[in-house]
Amino acid sequence: MTALASETLISLPAELSIVVPCYNEALNVVPLVHALDGALSGLCRWEAIFVDDNSPDGTADQAREIARQDPRVRVIRRVGRRGLSSAVIEGFLSSSAPFVAVMDGDLQHDEAALGPMLDFLRSGGDMAVASRHVEGGDSSGLAGKWRHFLSETGIRASQFVMHHKLADPMSGFFAIRRPLFEQILPRLSGTGFKILLDLVMSAPRELKIIEVPAVFRSRVAGESKLDAIVLIQFATMVLDKLTKGYLPTRFMAFAIVGLIGVFVNVAAMNVAHWLGMRFSLAQLFGTMVAILVNFWLNNRFTYYDRRLKGARLYGGLCIFVIACSIGAFANIGVAHMIFAGNSPAHGHWDRSSAAGAVIGVVWNYAIASTLVWR
Ligand code: GDD
Ligand code: MN
Repeated sequence: MTALASETLISLPAELSIVVPCYNEALNVVPLVHALDGALSGLCRWEAIFVDDNSPDGTADQAREIARQDPRVRVIRRVGRRGLSSAVIEGFLSSSAPFVAVMDGDLQHDEAALGPMLDFLRSGGDMAVASRHVEGGDSSGLAGKWRHFLSETGIRASQFVMHHKLADPMSGFFAIRRPLFEQILPRLSGTGFKILLDLVMSAPRELKIIEVPAVFRSRVAGESKLDAIVLIQFATMVLDKLTKGYLPTRFMAFAIVGLIGVFVNVAAMNVAHWLGMRFSLAQLFGTMVAILVNFWLNNRFTYYDRRLKGARLYGGLCIFVIACSIGAFANIGVAHMIFAGNSPAHGHWDRSSAAGAVIGVVWNYAIASTLVWR
């Protein structure tokens, strides 16, 4: 049982909600609540909101166990969904406190930074970021050279595109006034790991923001969930911000997968041709291989949050193959029409086929989003 706050304290609403996204962090929940209790006792009334995506290791049960004895602890368990940023958004939406902080559930973030962040918000600030890259901060807890390289690259790329230049835009530890969050909410991408970057890039130009030095500790229990998918999501999120949301992230991921499909198509066709297949047969073979690879990539990346499994996988594949075949005909048809028609692109094979490809990809995307990955 965690140390309970005094009766008078817990009967009043929280001033600070701490949203804690967690996936497979069962061993870290109890120590984190203790750490928060230690860091915040006497400073403010707080609550911790654990947002778990149905972790197989029983993280939600662990958190509920504490919540049954300590009303400052709340649990949201999402079923059938994954994602750090979207988990954080849902935690935010369940809070009524004037100030909300976001903190990892793996003890890597130093709770000592919460006090100064809260002070800044209380004094009228909009946002406070726990930073590893200001005087007094430290990032040595990042595991290995590869993670340091990724972090540095991410920071450079973000600073290049950000209006509010932060020393540590990759931080996942920050606090914000809730009304400001609600104002930004409709513009958030909500994909990937970098909810702070998403927020800051979508925030109004006038923003009172500070960075508070913080030490990033190394992970003791459990493992990092950062993988290739998260990196792709990062790239698409930044693109989404740069295009001001006119091109949805999912569509861009779909288009990138489609582009990969073009290369796969040509490669497979050449291999088949080289093996002695007739040209038209080799072309059909290449197309089929590309469709299969695209289906797999889309299932793995583009629609990772709606991933098809088991019987639904085969049903989805059938619809995808049919849709792509129609898409291919539409592609050729449109290209032909424009090539032969009297538009300015008439007679230009490159512009005509580009237009065909755009129509093809939009069509495939519409079917994929509505009929395959619903
Ligand atoms: N609900 C939920 N769903 N939580 C998740 C998910 C998910 O799909 N993926 C990760 N989390 C939780 C983890 O359980 C952990 O509490 C927190 O989000 C951060 O994830 P880690 O897997 O520990 O990521 P990391 O340490 O590699 O990255 C973190 O460090 C960066 C700084 O280098 C993240 O906090 C970044 O936001 C942070 O900037
Ligand atoms: Mn971590």
